[in-house]
Amino acid sequence: MATEKAKGVVAPEEKDEDRAFDQTLRPKKLDEYIGQDRVKQNLSIVMDAAKKRKESIEHVLLHGNPGLGKTTLAHIIAHEMGANIRVTSGPAIERAGDLAAILTNLEAGDVLFIDEIHRLNRSIEEILYPAMEEFGLDLVIGKGPAARTIRLDVPRFTLIGATTRVSLLSSPLRDRFGMIYHLNFYEEGDIEKILERSARILKVKTEPEAQKEIAKRARRTPRIANRLLKRVRDFAQVKHNGVITSAIAKEALNHLEVDEFGLDEIDRRILDVIITKFGGGPVGLTTIAAASGEDVATLEEVYEPFLLQIGFLDRTQRGRVATKLAYEHLGHDMPKEKQSSLL
Ligand code: ADE
Repeated sequence: MATEKAKGVVAPEEKDEDRAFDQTLRPKKLDEYIGQDRVKQNLSIVMDAAKKRKESIEHVLLHGNPGLGKTTLAHIIAHEMGANIRVTSGPAIERAGDLAAILTNLEAGDVLFIDEIHRLNRSIEEILYPAMEEFGLDLVIGKGPAARTIRLDVPRFTLIGATTRVSLLSSPLRDRFGMIYHLNFYEEGDIEKILERSARILKVKTEPEAQKEIAKRARRTPRIANRLLKRVRDFAQVKHNGVITSAIAKEALNHLEVDEFGLDEIDRRILDVIITKFGGGPVGLTTIAAASGEDVATLEEVYEPFLLQIGFLDRTQRGRVATKLAYEHLGHDMPKEKQSSLL
C-alpha cells in the first residue's frame, strides 16, 4: 500500500475537512472548554458581572497560534451572553460599505467576530474606531466641497477580534480592546481530556493509552488532536474492528509519518536544513525558507512557534539555531564546539 503523505496532517490552520468536524466537537459552554484556565477564569468573572448589570462585555482581542480555540471561544462568549454572533474576517471586509452594512445590521448585545483582524485594511480600521468607542458610524455623504459627515448610531455590540499576529495590529486598534488574551499551547494532559471528550461525542471506543499516544503527537493543539483522532478512527475502522488501541494509534500515526514529537516531514526537513546545510545555525529565516522550499510566512507562523515551544529551535539575534535536542532527534551528532558555545 502506498504511504499516505503526512503533508499537512499536523498543519494547524483550518482545512475544509476540519470545518464540519470542528463544529460538531466545538464546546458551546465555558465549562466544557478544556484548558486555558486563566483566560476562562477571567472571562467567567467578566461575563457574570456584565450579565448582572444587564450589559454587554467590553471588546475582546484573542491572539495565539492557529488551532488553539480562538473561534471556539468567541462562539462560547456569545452563547454564554445569550447573544447572536456575526462572523467575518479581516480580508473579507473589502470596502468601507461592507463594514457599515455589518455594523448597522447588528442588534443590541450582539457579538461581532472578526477573524484575522490584523488583515483589516487601515481605512476600514478607522471606521471601526468610533464604532468601538462611541458606538457611532461616521458616513461621508456627497463629494467635493459639498461633502459632509453624518453620524449614525450603532447598537451596543461586543467586538471579538482574533489574530495569529498581534504585533501586526496597529496600536490605536489594540488600545480599543478592553481585554486582550493570549491563548497558549495546551498541556498534554488537557489534549488527552479533549480527545476523551471528542471520542465520547463521536462514539469511538478509544483506550486511554491510545489517547495518550495521539495527544503526544498533536503539537499541543486541539484542532490537530481532533484531526489525528479522525484519521486514526478511519484507520481502525478499515484495518481493525473500530476500537482504537494504543497499538493501532501508533500504527496509524506512523503511517501518517507524524513522529512521537508530532513533527511531520516538513519540520524534519527544516531542522535537517539548519543542521546539515548551515552547521546548525545561526541562520536567517529567509535563508531557511529558500533552502527548505517553504514559504517564509508559513515557516514563521506555523512551524517555528512549535519548534521553539518544544525546544528544538532557538531564536538568537543572528538567526535560528538548532538545539541539542534537535540534533539528537534527527540522529545527528552535535559538534563539540557547538555544545560548548551554547553553555
Ligand atoms: N475542542 C477544541 N478546543 C477545545 C477545548 N479547548 N476544549 C474542549 N474541546 C475543544
